[in-house]
Amino acid sequence: MPTVRFVREGRDVQCAQGANLREIALGEGVEIYGLKGKLGNCKGYGQCITCLVRVLNQGTDEAVSPISDLELIKLKNRPKDWRLACQTVVNESVIVVTRPQASFKNSDLMIKHAKSVELPH
Ligand code: FES
Repeated sequence: MPTVRFVREGRDVQCAQGANLREIALGEGVEIYGLKGKLGNCKGYGQCITCLVRVLNQGTDEAVSPISDLELIKLKNRPKDWRLACQTVVNESVIVVTRPQASFKNSDLMIKHAKSVELPH
């Protein structure tokens, strides 16, 4: 059973293999949306670009689903490790930063710590 380590929230959440990252977050009360997304979002259809996440450690290339053609278009000017949560399927344990466009206190330290603690598999 994969684990999603949400760095900003300091939480590890177990999920079913093949689960959708947006649904995992919403189901666990992890805030995936910034203000714009809270005011309105496409509910997971890959159109609004408000469910941005950064996938830090994919472990292997298969840890999450490959970037989709839709994401390639929508994220063309974003960092390579950013994804749309609604278009990302979790296959293996991963480390995720929600709302990567918004900084948070001690983010570098928290990311370093998240990477240093082994992920359950
Ligand atoms: S919820 Fe709109 S792009 Fe993901």
